[in-house]
Amino acid sequence: MVRHLLRDDDLSPAEQAEVLDLADRLKADRFAEQPLAGPKAVAVVFDKSSTRTRVSFEAGITQLGGSAVILEGSTSQLGRGETISDTSRVLSRYVDAIVWRTSGQERVEEMASVATVPVVNALTDSYHPCQILADLQTIRERLGRLAGVTLTYLGDGANNIAHSLLLGGATAGLHVRIASPAGFTPASDVVRDAKARADRTGGSVTLIADPHAAVTGADVVVTDTWTSMGQESDGLDRVAPFRPYQVNAELLGRAAPGAIVLHCLPAHRGEEITDEVIDGPASAVWDEAENRLHAQKALLTWLLRA
Ligand code: CP
Ligand code: NVA
Repeated sequence: MVRHLLRDDDLSPAEQAEVLDLADRLKADRFAEQPLAGPKAVAVVFDKSSTRTRVSFEAGITQLGGSAVILEGSTSQLGRGETISDTSRVLSRYVDAIVWRTSGQERVEEMASVATVPVVNALTDSYHPCQILADLQTIRERLGRLAGVTLTYLGDGANNIAHSLLLGGATAGLHVRIASPAGFTPASDVVRDAKARADRTGGSVTLIADPHAAVTGADVVVTDTWTSMGQESDGLDRVAPFRPYQVNAELLGRAAPGAIVLHCLPAHRGEEITDEVIDGPASAVWDEAENRLHAQKALLTWLLRA
């Protein structure tokens, strides 16, 4: 059966650990795995903007011995209404994996339902599992462990990063705290699934409205943009409700000694995070961005073996 990564809990705890171990190995030796030698090709399709995802996948696929075919959804026939399933059948005949950044989660699910090659979610409105693999790699290399680590995410609890941290963090045995204002809390089905996963791994999931209480004693503090791609003109006032959730020096002061700060980037400096924090000693964001390369190479290698 072909394996896909559409949301974080598509990997079992043991499988996630295998991918992270492989990511560390590929970080130590960029050319240790050559699953795409030939070269084989991978289609990487973007319906939304990207810097990190695009460059890390293209560079990573090259380092794995393969060739990336980068496609803008809007200039492909998908943009003119060709169905996702027809597109998936055709791409499956050309390439060894399909990586897709798009809007609705149901779109990647439809692509995977007929694909005969692995499909990787490179961000949807609901999940960003590639980012969370890189985040977990970063936490483990900085703190030396994952199970039992307390991670607090502050900001839009209903966005892709919050949902993926819930599922991916619970899979890794983290204590995940989500701090968000009313109206921006995580989807209840994601919280339910994350709690079920945490029950198996010894992790936990907690929703907390008060940002100060949420950060107290945290080992990892994470934030993300208050306005995700596609929400720019939805008319919601985000600045007023989100302001108390800004990751600044005062809030970070409540975290555990040696706590690290993550942000998937791009950052909106002065909004969800201050310059002094993102440029300060607790920030691990540049390692986190680098680890996208290693984690995604590990993921592709693992999926092509599975
Ligand atoms: N973090 C992340 O996915 O960045 P890009 O939007 O630049 O790909
Ligand atoms: N939540 C952000 C993540 C960007 C990588 C967005 O969807 O725009």
